[in-house]
Amino acid sequence: MTARRRNVRRLAAAALVVGAVFLFSGCALFDSPQNTFAPHGEVAAKQRDLFFIVMWPALAIMIGVFGVLLYSLWRFRQRSENEPPPVQVHGNTRLEVAWTIVPVILLAVIAVPTLADIVELGRQPRDDALHVKVMGRQWKWQFEYPDQTDATGAPVLVFDELHIPVGREVGFTVESADVIHSFWMPQLGGKIDVIPGRTNHIWIKADEPGNYSSQCAEFCGLGHSAMRFRAIAESEQDFEAWIAGGGQTSPTGISAAGGE
Ligand code: CUA
Repeated sequence: MTARRRNVRRLAAAALVVGAVFLFSGCALFDSPQNTFAPHGEVAAKQRDLFFIVMWPALAIMIGVFGVLLYSLWRFRQRSENEPPPVQVHGNTRLEVAWTIVPVILLAVIAVPTLADIVELGRQPRDDALHVKVMGRQWKWQFEYPDQTDATGAPVLVFDELHIPVGREVGFTVESADVIHSFWMPQLGGKIDVIPGRTNHIWIKADEPGNYSSQCAEFCGLGHSAMRFRAIAESEQDFEAWIAGGGQTSPTGISAAGGE
């Protein structure tokens, strides 16, 4: 190997490593704030599980198909200029039956948990659920607690800071005051479209206390990137205390518990 070729190889290897570092730095292996692979609630966990139920078989199929393809390309390549054409084959009943039946079985198996979750995640929240009315606005989130009132007797109303009790379902009705937004709490569940003139529904349940970084997930104008909110899951007592205080949030809309 010439020195020049060695250098090219080294450069290519270095480029590969640097590229991989950039690529994988976007992957959150751990419990980072918006990592949907680290769910903190029942809905987010179900959604993550469904993803894997589809992804692992798909990955196995991809490796199998590309494996056979690459093997065939190499094994049956043309070895010399004057090689005669290979034997021409038409149809193979056994293979065709197999690659029809196996996908049918696989899809049927995947359909069971998928349909079960579609029904479960789309159902009405339970009777003891907390009800929150969400209004998406350019560019902030308005949360109204119709069953919780402040000192004046008006429903508690806050912006960009959602407080919810841990271990209890929260049922949201979601509306828009202007354009289409998307309501998303990556570690708790979602997302759901926020559409003018339409009321959408979603429920979630937080498993443990935390401050869950959440956001609008649909481009909705110049302020879209700032349309974030905090979902603060706390004990029932802390939640009641927060309600009793009229749902006070810090002036920035980011609670002291935010740590940001
Ligand atoms: Cu609201 Cu993007």
